[in-house]
Amino acid sequence: MLDRRTLLKSLGLSAVALPFFSDDAHANELLQPDDPTFWASVRDQFMLSKDKVFFNCGTVGVMPKVVVDKMTEHTRYLATDVADWAYKDDNKEQFISGYNNLMSIRTKVARLFHCDVGEVAMTDNVTHGMSYIANGITLQPGDEILTTDQEHGGGQSSWKLKEKRYGAVFKTVAVGKPISGASDVYDTIVKAITPNTKVLMLSHMISGSGAILPVKEICAEARKRGIFTVLDGAQTVGQIKIDLRDIDCDAYVGCFHKWMGAPCGTGFMFVKAEHLKTLWATVASYRWDDHTDEGFRFTQRGTGNFSVLLGLEAALDFHSQIGPERVYERIKFLGQRLREGLTNNKKVKIFSPKEEAMCAGITLYNIEGMTGAQLQDAYWAKANMRPRSQGDVFGVRHSTHIFNTENEIDRALAIVNELAR
Ligand SMILES: Cc1ncc(COP(=O)(O)O)c(C=O)c1O
Repeated sequence: MLDRRTLLKSLGLSAVALPFFSDDAHANELLQPDDPTFWASVRDQFMLSKDKVFFNCGTVGVMPKVVVDKMTEHTRYLATDVADWAYKDDNKEQFISGYNNLMSIRTKVARLFHCDVGEVAMTDNVTHGMSYIANGITLQPGDEILTTDQEHGGGQSSWKLKEKRYGAVFKTVAVGKPISGASDVYDTIVKAITPNTKVLMLSHMISGSGAILPVKEICAEARKRGIFTVLDGAQTVGQIKIDLRDIDCDAYVGCFHKWMGAPCGTGFMFVKAEHLKTLWATVASYRWDDHTDEGFRFTQRGTGNFSVLLGLEAALDFHSQIGPERVYERIKFLGQRLREGLTNNKKVKIFSPKEEAMCAGITLYNIEGMTGAQLQDAYWAKANMRPRSQGDVFGVRHSTHIFNTENEIDRALAIVNELAR
């Protein structure tokens, strides 16, 4: 475990934050998700312009300074000293990614999400991870892939391709927007399973509404019926805690460039060891058929940018040092503050789940008589605030993260109340 001094130094936190990263368990327990001093110190770790407010981590996140520094430093090093590269050991030399087993990063990912490092492959994003899985498993004509009607194109398209190319059947089930509750959505999805269902693909958190699905319970039911379960974690990684052993899905794909604060083009794929060994490679290099390290078999994907991966490693460290639980609590605290404020206005309709336990940092809402584009523009015109439009009906998707403040949420609510008078 890092001592307090190292921790503070690595985070760049000021002395003022000392009590919150104390070795004293009692002092740590005292840290609340609304602790102003601690979260102000965290905010200072981001270069994010102070005259703008970012509410769109659902699309792309914000890198803390330590991540930018790491990447920049490495990019400079490559530009000046690439001649240092002796080509002796791909796994030790950090010049280009794609031939390196990325063991250090994969180990951190495995630790964070509770799985074995051999089950983790690094990818560029969710779309790649899902494509590796859909393309790599064998389905027969008539085999069904079941999913919801609210999946992102990067999660579902590789399965549609499977349908068109191999005659598998891509089926969606409507889950409602807002989703009424965890037990309803569980029933809806389980009832849609047929004897032909071979794959169940679900977002762990639906990107359009921020609904956290009861994936553990659904995967348990699917497992009883021998169905392969794969979860899309684009919106959960870095936002809510993920315990893959507990969820017990067969596969999980995620990206780090939304909620984890990592550079764009960073993702991972987890596949249970028993399935990973029979998964066909999609991107093939030397190791495509070498089963000594299954995760490496999929991580090896040709020349890539090591600076980006070192930025990712710094982001994972930053996240772990604050603590996944603390990150989640802060995100949820701000999200809930927003939802509670919105609920007080009768002209506002919320499309995120009514059940608060299904929500964290994403809230989808609209004001009567407005489109999402109008609301997005009004936010920008009035206060340089940036949530993201979700079209004419659903208004905006408003994401809250650890660099946001209570004051930003309250100012956003004041704007909504002014517009919805
Ligand atoms: C649920 C979901 N799946 C997949 C994706 C695509 O992710 P990526 O761009 O990392 O491939 C997104 C992006 O917003 C998403 O929200």
